[in-house]
Amino acid sequence: MCGIVGYIGHRDASSIVLEGLKKLEYRGYDSAGLALYDGQKLNVTKTKGKVATLENKLLTTGNTNSSIGIGHTRWATHGEPNDKNSHPHYSNSGELVIIHNGIIENYDSIRKELIKRGYKFKSDTDTEVLINLIEEIQNKTQLKLGEAVQLALKEIVGAYAIAVFDIKKPNELVVAKLGSPLAVGIGKNEYFIGSDASPFLEFTNRAIYLEDGQVAAIRLNKPIKIWEIDNNKPTPVVVQELKMSLEATEKGGYDHFMLKEIYEQPSAIRDTYRGRLLTDEKIIKMAGIEDNIEKFINADRIIIVACGTSWHAGLVAEYILEDLTRTPVEVEYASEFRYRNPIITSQDVIIAISQSGETADTLAAIKIAKENSAFVFGVCNVVGSTIARETHAGAYTHAGPEIGVASTKAFTTQITVLTLIALKLGLAKKTINNKTFEELITELNQIPEKLEETLNCNKIAMDIAKVYKNSQNCLFLGRGYNFPVALEGALKLKEISYIHAEGYPAAEMKHGPIALIDENMPIIVVAINKGHYEKTVSNIQEIKARKGKVIAVVTKGDVTVKELANHVIEIPETLETLSPLLTTIPLQLFSYHTAVLLNKNVDQPRNLAKSVTVE
Ligand code: M6R
Repeated sequence: MCGIVGYIGHRDASSIVLEGLKKLEYRGYDSAGLALYDGQKLNVTKTKGKVATLENKLLTTGNTNSSIGIGHTRWATHGEPNDKNSHPHYSNSGELVIIHNGIIENYDSIRKELIKRGYKFKSDTDTEVLINLIEEIQNKTQLKLGEAVQLALKEIVGAYAIAVFDIKKPNELVVAKLGSPLAVGIGKNEYFIGSDASPFLEFTNRAIYLEDGQVAAIRLNKPIKIWEIDNNKPTPVVVQELKMSLEATEKGGYDHFMLKEIYEQPSAIRDTYRGRLLTDEKIIKMAGIEDNIEKFINADRIIIVACGTSWHAGLVAEYILEDLTRTPVEVEYASEFRYRNPIITSQDVIIAISQSGETADTLAAIKIAKENSAFVFGVCNVVGSTIARETHAGAYTHAGPEIGVASTKAFTTQITVLTLIALKLGLAKKTINNKTFEELITELNQIPEKLEETLNCNKIAMDIAKVYKNSQNCLFLGRGYNFPVALEGALKLKEISYIHAEGYPAAEMKHGPIALIDENMPIIVVAINKGHYEKTVSNIQEIKARKGKVIAVVTKGDVTVKELANHVIEIPETLETLSPLLTTIPLQLFSYHTAVLLNKNVDQPRNLAKSVTVE
């Protein structure tokens, strides 16, 4: 889970690589570096810290003149984040240089072999082992760089997206991919490389997404050559026209990407159901479901696999799918599912949910499901991502780029897609009637407007955050559809403010967490006037009896909870099934403001990365 960038062409490689790294910092930001070749000398500048630190260092070294360059922003796996472990890494001769996103699992045995042959290592990384292995192969075989890289990768166990160049042949970049993403942007007499397309979108909208197991030689003024690592088979070069805009990847006047993305939710949800939810015709159109409707109808059960926020969206979907389709649903952490010898049959439908479409554990769970002949359906945001390609069919969330590490609009758009699926299946299976279907689609169509109204609670959320920002702990409670919302609220607060938080079903409180409650404990309760409202009111009474501070998310016009709670945030009236789409918003805003008031790095919280492409 690092970001890699590369450039070869007629422009100044240093600024393209540096600006590209800034766009990819969401993938990791504990150290950064870049390598440039000025025609005489390889200049490698790297540092612990963020790309801004690298930029400063570069200003002092003045090593910027080059038409070929590669850069890396790191999230450490092997070796602590420090200068020496930062990428790029170069070979013992100082002629080959590499950037790498991924993990080489058998690096230690290769390293020991290379040491026996006289190689010396400056870092603790697996990547430095790989570049020296490539050099060793080149020295032994005199093969071209691309072929030497290919042979080295055949010896590697693990995952990678790499870019390599040789200062003896500075007109060529070699890239390869297995398990980590890699895009090549094609300009006029110039090529770009990125973990995604954002580093080169301002220069070109033409890109190639390398497939797993492929290596490519990118040479100036020559067509790209791609071939299979395993069998040398040349692969056709498929160029895609990208439709995403650069503007969409920038902050657009907001202080942070997270806040921008919270505010984008009404439009993101509209984009999610645009062309799918046809309220006039009273139908839902989703090709991925229609083409496979029998599989869904005849499924013995649906198993949802995901991680983090996507897993919480899966939990909300469990309530919705079981209610509307009467198909049993299980929601699994992908990381547990992949290792616990799960029982999967060809009658199971697996739904894999992932914003990035690159999460390693979710990908591994998909692989196991496919090996057991299950039908696998993906719900992803990033178009063309690995999960989107590895699943049998799927539906994109169309949320647009999510840059803030804390997921916000990904969550609500995932719930929207899964609700559309549940409604479509419910009608097909006749487990809901037309009246229920129509009531739900009419309300779903109104959610973006109600969401806009909900966003008006921003100021109240900020005022509440001011009161509780110095708390050590925080509880989040909800029932039914809003229990996963409580889990998601706690995750948001933990990851960006570093305040310890737990989410619980409200009724579970008395089985343990109630012991934590005292006058210093804020407890955020989703207490809308649906489902088991009275029961939730009783839970609030229990908290008040122990002097806990209640922050309640209530339906507009609520009287009972208002009298009990210390603070209330109102949301518009909606159906219980769709309520998570609204109740989530105040929780996101509360976490956001708490983190801002505590001066935390909201968009890039410590120790985290946007997409977790290692297990
Ligand atoms: O890209 P994915 O949806 O597969 O990512 C899953 C989790 O890593 C992600 O949701 C993570 O928990 C976020 N930081 C939550 O805000």
